[in-house]
Amino acid sequence: MKKWSASRAPAGRIAYVNGRYLPFAAAGVHIEDRALQLGDGIYEVCNVIGGTMLDEEPHLDRMERSLRELGMPMPMSRPALKIVMREMIARNRIADGFLYIQVTRGAVKRDHIPPPAGALRPTLIMTMRAQDLAGLHQRLEKGIAVATQPDIRWGRCDIKTVQLLPNLLAKQAARKAGAFEAWLVDDDGYITEGSSTNAWIVDRAGTVITRDLSNAILPGVTRRIILEAMAEAQLKVVERKFTVAEALAAQEAFLSSATGAAVPVVAVNGQTIGNGAPGALTRRIRELYFARTGVNTGLKKA
Ligand code: PDD
Repeated sequence: MKKWSASRAPAGRIAYVNGRYLPFAAAGVHIEDRALQLGDGIYEVCNVIGGTMLDEEPHLDRMERSLRELGMPMPMSRPALKIVMREMIARNRIADGFLYIQVTRGAVKRDHIPPPAGALRPTLIMTMRAQDLAGLHQRLEKGIAVATQPDIRWGRCDIKTVQLLPNLLAKQAARKAGAFEAWLVDDDGYITEGSSTNAWIVDRAGTVITRDLSNAILPGVTRRIILEAMAEAQLKVVERKFTVAEALAAQEAFLSSATGAAVPVVAVNGQTIGNGAPGALTRRIRELYFARTGVNTGLKKA
């Protein structure tokens, strides 16, 4: 079992850019990079605990899929990528952190038409930072509030692109409303997902509900592992749309992402969910998730 150390590791200062490990301040990309000019790029955020990456293969699977949807191959082979990822964790000396990977269609003269596949020189960036474990523990212990916002994103939310303007505007509005996360609501009044998390509720019968996969949401890696863990534990779960009204009437609710698996939601739009405290099922699901990833978090005491 990998150990989730209680102490916060020193912050990393090494970035990887196109084959080079550089001091953070010296790292950069060309101003013609298509991610900067056109938002033409994808990313992954991976959780690192005890020096080990969680859910590495599913993250790389999704990265490959996002790139495929953009008509791009992986920037290097999977084994080579894994070496760089491990090197980043080691060089940054961060045991518990987040590894950020971004792939763009590279730096070329600005043109809406992407360069042909043969001429492609993608940009590959990795950065790392330490986790705010104290903040996470507080969120797990007390739960967080969410505020609904209209989902004004595009029609391919299943691709993890770096184009996050609607997401960050929603998160900003939610923070302004005193909430930690925004739950995005589609034109028909159904919650799609959070601005950077998947959304889950538990109904009064104890059934866990999360939106089914489609172009309307990101296929969260944490979501996928939670669903696998729940199936194994024979817990009741349904993948379907749910309304804001259903969320307000829920017994429990939670968020999932690489930055927090099953973080309890205790209020929606200022209205208390369940008894206003993190739910028992949410905690059980978090434990099942971590058991499946093989990480010992010590969170049972949280
Ligand atoms: N966000 N939905 C959206 C819109 C997301 O941006 C994310 C992840 C998720 C959860 O996916 P996963 O379980 O694979 O992390 C759902 C990352 C953490 C981010 O942008 O920082």
